[in-house]
Amino acid sequence: MADEISVIGPGHMGTGITQVFLQVGYKVILVGRNKESLDKGAERLRTSMSKAIKKGSLNEREAEHMLNNLHLSSDYHDIENSILVMEAVSENLDIKTDVLKNAEAYVGNNSIIATNTSSIPIHKLGNGLKNRKRFLGMHFFNPVPVMKPIELIVSDETSEQAISDAKKIIDKLGKTAVMVNDYPGFIANRILMPFINEAIIALEKGAADKEGIDTIAKLGFNHPMGPLELADFIGLDVCKDIMDSIYAETGNPKFIPSDMLASLVKEGKLGRKSGEGFYTYEK
Ligand code: CAA
Repeated sequence: MADEISVIGPGHMGTGITQVFLQVGYKVILVGRNKESLDKGAERLRTSMSKAIKKGSLNEREAEHMLNNLHLSSDYHDIENSILVMEAVSENLDIKTDVLKNAEAYVGNNSIIATNTSSIPIHKLGNGLKNRKRFLGMHFFNPVPVMKPIELIVSDETSEQAISDAKKIIDKLGKTAVMVNDYPGFIANRILMPFINEAIIALEKGAADKEGIDTIAKLGFNHPMGPLELADFIGLDVCKDIMDSIYAETGNPKFIPSDMLASLVKEGKLGRKSGEGFYTYEK
């Protein structure tokens, strides 16, 4: 019988994570708050699977098999046989802490509990747990089906067993685990967010127009997307939240979100998902 994994949170990251586990043969319990959020998540998953089919990384038969291995649930009792619980809910300390505590109450003692946080310190998220030895961070990158690395974030309390089990699972996904300590912003966002923020400051100060700034990064650094295009792709609210979180941890003013980023978020211009950020998008 296929090993079972639970993913809590049927949002953009949660459904991407669900897709990659299904793709390598796991049975996945996707847990959401209610039927509406689960239905939306299932729709998002089907759209992403169609893209994978178009790109040739998946065929129709595999897709059918994957959907047979997917179970939607809003009942935590259903996670009890999972070897790994992946938390992928909103990037908010209180919400995540609550979900993790709930998950611990239902899941077996030997299962790994992992968070997909992009910037909240692991030791803070683990505070509400009774057994922090099997708790760690597995930070997937967006778009999950395409991006190879996973930041494997461990605290002083994470056991060697949990680390080794998590590495085996990441190997099975065909992704690359990068061991990272519980450092503010970990590695990805510690580097990426100041880069994006600096690009926004350059735009704000009139150093170049948005296309110019993005072209320099694409042609000059061989990045697939420029920093402003990437910020829109990630979500400007997400970028701001990450900057705020790193600033709160470090107190270093270089992590203060730029005025332009803060105003765009305030105006509800969040990038691709809202139809407008630095660029405009068809919804
Ligand atoms: N399954 C599902 N979707 C797939 C797929 C697959 N196997 N393969 C491709 N796709 C999707 C792509 O995501 C893209 O989606 P959208 O329509 O939503 O843009 C679409 O299919 C087209 O893909 P293509 O490969 O044809 O297009 P492309 O060559 O333009 O590549 C891209 C798109 C992969 C997003 C590329 O532009 C890229 O690599 N961009 C940079 C992404 C990046 O830097 N991500 C890291 C963000 S930081 C992060 O994640 C950390 C954090 O905490 C914020």
